[in-house]
Amino acid sequence: MFPHRLTLIRIVLFVVLSTTLFLTYCYLKIRPSYGLYNQLNAQELKDSELIAKHGDGGKRRYVMFKQLRGAGFNNQVQDIVLYHNLALASGRTYVYQPFVWRPRGEKSYVPLSAFLPGVTKGSITSEVFHNICPEQDSKHISLGDVDSEKQWEHAVNVLNQSEQCVIVDDWIFNWTFLTTSGLHPVWTSFHQYLKTHFEWSQAILNIIPRAQTQLNLRPTPKSTTGDPYIALHLRRGDFENHCKSLSETQMGFTTWATLPSLHSSTLPPPLNTSSTTSILTHCYPSLHRILSSISIQAQLHPNARTLYVLHDGAIDHPTVYLQFYKLREALTNKHWAKSRHWQNGPMKRVLQSSDVGRVQTWGENDYGVAVDVELARRAEAFVGNGYSSLSTQIVALRLADGGSPNEITFV
Ligand SMILES: *[C@@H]1O[C@H](CO)[C@@H](O)[C@H](O)[C@H]1NC(C)=O
Ligand SMILES: *[C@@H]1O[C@H](CO)[C@@H](O)[C@H](O)[C@H]1NC(C)=O
Ligand SMILES: *[C@@H]1O[C@H](CO)[C@@H](O)[C@H](O)[C@H]1NC(C)=O
Repeated sequence: MFPHRLTLIRIVLFVVLSTTLFLTYCYLKIRPSYGLYNQLNAQELKDSELIAKHGDGGKRRYVMFKQLRGAGFNNQVQDIVLYHNLALASGRTYVYQPFVWRPRGEKSYVPLSAFLPGVTKGSITSEVFHNICPEQDSKHISLGDVDSEKQWEHAVNVLNQSEQCVIVDDWIFNWTFLTTSGLHPVWTSFHQYLKTHFEWSQAILNIIPRAQTQLNLRPTPKSTTGDPYIALHLRRGDFENHCKSLSETQMGFTTWATLPSLHSSTLPPPLNTSSTTSILTHCYPSLHRILSSISIQAQLHPNARTLYVLHDGAIDHPTVYLQFYKLREALTNKHWAKSRHWQNGPMKRVLQSSDVGRVQTWGENDYGVAVDVELARRAEAFVGNGYSSLSTQIVALRLADGGSPNEITFV
């Protein structure tokens, strides 16, 4: 009996030890780079103080907006860049706030410059703003009591006043507004804004070439190395319920998907917001529709036989993986490709977001979604969902890079 017990104890010890090591490894691997974040926070404060001190001979005017807190990462990015663009258009210095990192709770913040250093340049943090603009010296205003068509012009005019410290109390770029044509007058300046101010941080830019090399993806459509690829944003997860509520309130596409220049980018039939069925068709499309959308781009790009799929599959949304595998099954089938009249045969490779996860090292876990956006931005063509702000942000970046609406399909 004795040797047996010893063996058992050894086995138990081994299992406990290796589990502990594995969990520690996982924890360390997804643990954000707090050292870097602290350093960025300190730098943001220092830069902001310098800007405030120079003050443009006392002429510098500031605006702090009611910023979206705690929604999805890309919803926050979109809100921040729209407000930054508005501040610049009205000649004010933008007051920025950190990202709220939802996976780590309500009060978990990530410095903005960890993602969008372009926004922080020439802007100041809310912390420094509260020092130069104490509450009694700040003017609170509302911007949203006009028709959505006039919203942009009205906001620019109201903000272009002499008060040094302005705080906007209403959330003008709310979900409803973003689905209206009231956003169209913003496009000219926003298009230019993306070219001159949109910039990912170095930490994110470091991952991109690594991912491209490992996955053998063409760095940009103009490059000659790597496989040309098409990107698909498969928006599922919580969208099933979200789409139901959007159909009940008759909501249309969001932000730039509503641009007239993109009308012909939507897979027919066109969206009819009076019809619940039509909204669900576009918001939560069947796999059949997704395949038809990919087919359009695969026919236009016979050399692109690699597909990169951005998706939100996770432990809480496991069926997304199932849908991914079904799509992959069809797309890599030569009979199926032939039935769809694809020249050059089926897809040779169908990759997904988690393949990039493998090239990330310690502390890079937070950047996954930004890397996905950038890879989709640089693809030969993009298939997205007009109800998703992540898809429409990718589309805006592609258009700002000089991309064509023909290379975009909304399911
Ligand atoms: C802001 O107001 C000034 C003075 O009224 C005017 O000269 C300037 O063109 C305005 N700027 C914008 C962006 O409207
Ligand atoms: C959304 O913003 C618009 C102005 O852009 C405003 O008129 C409307 O009342 C707001 N809606 C909600 C639900 O806050
Ligand atoms: C849009 O949907 C509504 C409700 O189903 C329908 O009555 C209308 O004819 C549709 N419009 C178009 C242009 O198909």
